[in-house]
Amino acid sequence: KSYNNILIESRGKVGLITLNRRKELNALSSELFHEVNDALETYDSDSEIGAIVITGSEKAFAAGADIKEMRDKTFAEVYKTNFLGHWGRINDIKKPVIAAVNGYALGGGCELAMSCDIIYAGDGAIFGQPEIKLGVIPGAGGTQRLTRAVGKSKAMEYALSGRPFTAQDAEKCGLVSKVFPKDQVLGEAIKLAEEIAGFSQPAVQAGKEAINSAYELSLKEGMHFERRLFQALFALNDKKEGMSAFVEKRAPKWTNS
Ligand code: HXC
Repeated sequence: KSYNNILIESRGKVGLITLNRRKELNALSSELFHEVNDALETYDSDSEIGAIVITGSEKAFAAGADIKEMRDKTFAEVYKTNFLGHWGRINDIKKPVIAAVNGYALGGGCELAMSCDIIYAGDGAIFGQPEIKLGVIPGAGGTQRLTRAVGKSKAMEYALSGRPFTAQDAEKCGLVSKVFPKDQVLGEAIKLAEEIAGFSQPAVQAGKEAINSAYELSLKEGMHFERRLFQALFALNDKKEGMSAFVEKRAPKWTNS
């Protein structure tokens, strides 16, 4: 498959998506995002792939939604067509998605990173929700995911002032798991993805589903859902294999069944 705005490459069990509108700092046009969705969904349904990495360039993960595309649009147009509604499709991906962020992750770029399951950042990465400077507000999680990740005071500060924050700030408040020298972040993200992709796929999928439910359910409901999923995994051959391999002091052979 060939795309106009992204590059795709599978490395063993890892599907890599590289945003590739370099001159525009990976501004997330509708076309680019449709391509990201298509690549994500293709990897998600490919049984050879166990985890997905999304990255950009060294200068920009993504500098936001495409302002030039949005400039002349009216309320009626964006409302009637549910403009950028397709950005939500990433939420239905079942396999883990890791963002490897260097450079700018602003506006929709920050929101795309936050839509991923794990964020690794290069030490020069700059995050931010600068939409307020354009007379709007974030539209794909910058008021919701950011608030859940960093708390109210920081979310208010970042989204209402538009001030950027560094990779180190992002790590300190838990938005980002780890910061690496910038030439190592993609390699480390792929290494993590390979490790995850080396486990039983249904178990990994259940883990992702359970963690995501923490954002939707009460603690009691979430604990219940977690226990039910845990119990359900006892139906897998991989549960038997994993526990037998431990007891027999050998490496497990997963069959994803
Ligand atoms: C369209 C963009 C763009 C964007 C950069 N470019 N960001 N085009 N949409 N979001 C283009 C510039 O117009 C320029 O094109 C080229 O990329 C290089 O950018 P420069 O500004 O010349 O680079 P630099 O001076 O290094 O500044 C980098 C920057 C700045 C600080 C990242 O580009 C910037 O502030 N960008 C906008 C960031 C932003 O406001 N993002 C939020 C967008 S709203 P030309 O043709 O002039 O060379 C949003 C809403 C999400 O994301 C809602 C989701 C549902």
